[in-house]
Amino acid sequence: MNLVLVFFCNLCIVTILYETTATCTIYGSKEPGDELLHHEHVFRAPHGQVAQSYDVVFPKKGKRNEKVITAIVASDLSPRNNATTSIKSGGPGKNYVTVHLKALPRKFMNYIILIYGRISEANLDNLVKGRSKL
Ligand SMILES: *[C@@H]1O[C@H](CO)[C@@H](O)[C@H](O)[C@H]1NC(C)=O
Repeated sequence: MNLVLVFFCNLCIVTILYETTATCTIYGSKEPGDELLHHEHVFRAPHGQVAQSYDVVFPKKGKRNEKVITAIVASDLSPRNNATTSIKSGGPGKNYVTVHLKALPRKFMNYIILIYGRISEANLDNLVKGRSKL
């Protein structure tokens, strides 16, 4: 599953260069060694005149995330629909994020959201000292 999504992401970067189908919005910056913490495909069909919107929430309710988010990659798989993304709360540097997706009325929303992160400096110190419960 992860492999497929990495492929999508690479495809997305390639398509930016050639300005063809998918487009990417990247919040923060992804460094080598960052871990994929969460991935979600958000597809919403148009519903009457009402613009569709959706929040990708990480971590999910009742789940914990100890890692610090480094990057959020939003790949628009149907960019002609002009759906948009924004960070509603949290994001890079934090351990939580809510990504808000908004479609135009009568248009599709078709995004893959990838959230990357790494172990925080503080947790790394604890690991070295053998005190972490990670
Ligand atoms: C999307 O935005 C482009 C550029 O602003 C515009 O030309 C196009 O008509 C828009 N598409 C829709 C579906 O609104």
